[in-house]
Amino acid sequence: MTPKKICGIGAGYVGGPTCSVIALKCPEIQVTVVDKSKERIAQWNSNKLPIYEPGLDEVVKKCRGKNLFFSTDIEKSIKEADIIFISVNTPTKNFGNGKGRAADLKYVEGAARMIAELATENKIVVEKSTVPVRSAESIINILRANHKPGVTYQVLSNPEFLAEGTAIDDLLHPDRVLIGGEDSAEGRAAIEQLCKVYENWIPRKNILTMNTWSSELSKLAANAFLAQRISSINSLSAVCEATGADVSEVALAVGLDSRIGSKFLQASVGFGGSCFQKDILNLVYICECLNLPEVADYWQQVINMNEYQKSRFSAQVIESLFNTVTDKQIALLGFAFKKNTGDTRESPAIHVAKTLLDEGAKLHIYDPKVEEEQIMVDLSHSCVIAEPEMIKNRISIHKHAYDATKNTHAIVLCTEWDEFVELDYRRIYANMMKPAYIFDGRKFLDHEELRKIGFIVRTIGKKIMKTGIS
Ligand code: UDX
Ligand code: UDX
Repeated sequence: MTPKKICGIGAGYVGGPTCSVIALKCPEIQVTVVDKSKERIAQWNSNKLPIYEPGLDEVVKKCRGKNLFFSTDIEKSIKEADIIFISVNTPTKNFGNGKGRAADLKYVEGAARMIAELATENKIVVEKSTVPVRSAESIINILRANHKPGVTYQVLSNPEFLAEGTAIDDLLHPDRVLIGGEDSAEGRAAIEQLCKVYENWIPRKNILTMNTWSSELSKLAANAFLAQRISSINSLSAVCEATGADVSEVALAVGLDSRIGSKFLQASVGFGGSCFQKDILNLVYICECLNLPEVADYWQQVINMNEYQKSRFSAQVIESLFNTVTDKQIALLGFAFKKNTGDTRESPAIHVAKTLLDEGAKLHIYDPKVEEEQIMVDLSHSCVIAEPEMIKNRISIHKHAYDATKNTHAIVLCTEWDEFVELDYRRIYANMMKPAYIFDGRKFLDHEELRKIGFIVRTIGKKIMKTGIS
């Protein structure tokens, strides 16, 4: 049987784009994305989608109202669906057992309970959210303990590997699709049904099927490996700064070894985003629970190195500005955790901004896609700033990089937006206090050119350069 109706629970960064691409590629399937937030659903039904993702607008415009629907009628959508994707968030627990490390599965569990309560026919329930190993077992236990007579369930693990900023392309051309399921006739039949959905645009050889636990762990492992590469190159960036080696040259030389490969070797101010930290903390917690402390310590070090990198970069800024930034005007360019997204979750810019504010600096912030309100929320959080009220007087948000940099002592670059490469740095230099500093936290500007203009440039993974005029 080919599935006719799909319900996606959770209209976030993962659920929204994933369901939109399924609708695009499977015109025969009706896809409904539901969310408990009325506001979020209203945004999905408006001209300004709740998330910025290149290519997403076009996909939604093409399918919305035809075979793609965004709705708050969760009940109807669950009842009608053959396949239900769970894409609700799984934040790190901030209380109780596992606080600060374990994934909080209350939303996933809530979704499972809701399905059990509403479903009157057999369902395939798909874990899209990244979850700890053996979560599928908890979901199936909830479903089977609460099932209505005659209703059966299969739970599949189908983790999503899309990265923000390239989500649509990643969904259209994934390296692989992973489906984990029960090793039984019913389990294999459910896997087959989900395969049929993906086979509408993905070659069968790229669809991997395996046991549920392997699939769940593979997702955590993939994120841990990616983050580990960044922490590895970032650790070497400190060695480069101390020795005169250039981390880009090292990354090039290392990455040309086909066994290592060149991707994810860009040294930076540190990795951010909703997944890497959360998933590694989760992996560490699982290892501790399994009494594998050496393995837990190993992965914890990836996070520790990332914290070190963010602190090291912030400290460099302060140290270079004569060890004090009190009342200095500093332009912060880029606030998102990477380019081509408006998402600020775990963005290293938050860490840098907090440190500079704590030291008494005045910040002028510009990001092409992050809303002013979001920046204020991120920086007013009581965990971030000791005196939240004070920050309003010390932060201004700008609509252009030129305004943000005017009359400042230094520019701190936290996100690698393409438009920052194109800026007229002569014009910027002319309007800044002197000496004018640039701290390139992404190592992506033309430092030689900036030096010629007169800037003092500092960047990750390369020794300080003197100004062109001195
Ligand atoms: C997802 C995941 O589910 C997470 O595990 C993974 O690691 C990253 O991707 P994401 O899509 O980024 O998270 O989260 P978010 O943008 O916060 O979206 C989650 C949505 O689920 C929100 O719109 C929220 O309102 C909705 N939700 C949450 C529900 O509809 N019901 C709930 O009970 C909880
Ligand atoms: C990541 C995974 O890539 C994706 O497969 C998974 O589904 C979700 O988590 P995402 O967090 O959206 O995706 O973006 P990603 O491109 O992985 O970047 C994460 C962070 O690492 C960003 O802050 C980015 O700037 C940083 N990064 C990435 C580096 O610092 N250097 C690199 O070489 C690559």
